[in-house]
Amino acid sequence: MNVYDSEQMSAVLAPLGYQLCDTPDSADMVILNTCHIREKATEKVFSELGRLRNRKQAMAAAGQDLLIAVAGCVAQAEGPEILSRAPYVDMVIGPQTYHRLPELVAKADSHSRKQAKGQFRGAGLIDTEFPSDVKFDHLPKASGGRRAAAFLSIQEGCDKFCSFCVVPYTRGAEYSRPVKQVLDEARQLAALGVREVTLLGQNVNAYHGEAGDGREWGLGRLLRALAEIDGLERLRYTTSHPRDVDDDLIAAHGEVDKIMPFLHLPVQSGSDHMLAAMNRKHSADEYRGIIDRLRTARPDLVLSSDFIVGHPGERDRDFADTLRLINDIGFTQAYSFKYSPRPGTPAAAALDQVPEAVKSERLAGLQQLLNAQQLAFNHAAEGTTQAVLFERAGNQDGQLVGRGPYMQSIHCAGPESLIGQIAAVEITAGHANSLAGVLKPTAPAATNGTERIQA
Ligand code: 5AD
Ligand code: SF4
Repeated sequence: MNVYDSEQMSAVLAPLGYQLCDTPDSADMVILNTCHIREKATEKVFSELGRLRNRKQAMAAAGQDLLIAVAGCVAQAEGPEILSRAPYVDMVIGPQTYHRLPELVAKADSHSRKQAKGQFRGAGLIDTEFPSDVKFDHLPKASGGRRAAAFLSIQEGCDKFCSFCVVPYTRGAEYSRPVKQVLDEARQLAALGVREVTLLGQNVNAYHGEAGDGREWGLGRLLRALAEIDGLERLRYTTSHPRDVDDDLIAAHGEVDKIMPFLHLPVQSGSDHMLAAMNRKHSADEYRGIIDRLRTARPDLVLSSDFIVGHPGERDRDFADTLRLINDIGFTQAYSFKYSPRPGTPAAAALDQVPEAVKSERLAGLQQLLNAQQLAFNHAAEGTTQAVLFERAGNQDGQLVGRGPYMQSIHCAGPESLIGQIAAVEITAGHANSLAGVLKPTAPAATNGTERIQA
């Protein structure tokens, strides 16, 4: 989501003459687009700001300006604190208001021009409202770049209020973009050469966008309509909540070939006791049931999840239930985290916090199991042929990097003209985080005509 938001911010600023540059050292404005989900991410913002302060001071001494903005969820949650801890910051802008960046930049610019040489106090502007005019109406159309794969935000915010999570507070209530807006943006992307679209939302499968006839479409229906767009070959979506997986979405996975056979469906824990404490509103067996139905619809579907260890109240047997669920389902990728108390969330106030050492030990055990599953899956790909969408040149000369249907990163030797195209690759080696292969001379029978491999 932050990658998408950053792209939108740079598009909003392009008419003012701003362009992306490679390092902060060559920039005359730096925007830190921040994440508040865990404490570590938030801390990084302040250490990064410290570095930028030095640069701003050095530039001021040379009579130059450096504008500094903090955007994203840390800005939303801690705006005033940022300005008091870092008075050299010019702009603090929340995720709902970045379409108003040009106004802020103009004001910050005029503030810094008025300062005497050597002074580097920030303009201290703050815009963290949840405005009623929706930002999507104000954002520029998709543009530029020859990209093979792009994000498309269709939904924002969350009404679920999981005990541990700040998202409902920083991103606000659930909102779905109207169907027409989404389809138009997808068509534009396809016209620009994009082959794969990943639909984004904090709770993407809670999508309920208004269609032209006044009715609401769910995600399944939206995916079917997107699959009709010529040029778009692959559809993905992230992140989903098990509670919002409905029959139509499951059926779409079976019926729409363009929906890739990989799904990130976070479960967080395999213990019913913890799932209740986390306010997840589903049991471990309900999750297993959803996966069974999805796999019945699309037998080669593989899964990824998020896990939290050490949420308040987690006992050894709860953790054992999580390991059991992982063994039952089998994940081909996963993200796992130690529980991190977030200000204002119910879990942060719980009295039964888990000691840090216990969290660390459980995380290590969990990751060992998840890594082994991922490696086994990658090994199982050896000898298969995968349809790879090439996204970029690799680090080595003549190397291409892309993704297979199952979201694996795949690299092989090949001409740069294949970037943006789907081609068949025979997998020769499965590593921990990627696959290596060789281009097959023949095109795959269908764009996603991969030999399906079982997880
Ligand atoms: N501590 C640790 N992990 C968290 N996540 C969300 N909030 C927290 C927290 N307070 C994880 C969840 C979520 C992912 C995006 O981040 O697993 O799915
Ligand atoms: Fe956070 Fe996801 Fe729960 Fe919403 S559903 S509160 S975004 S973890």
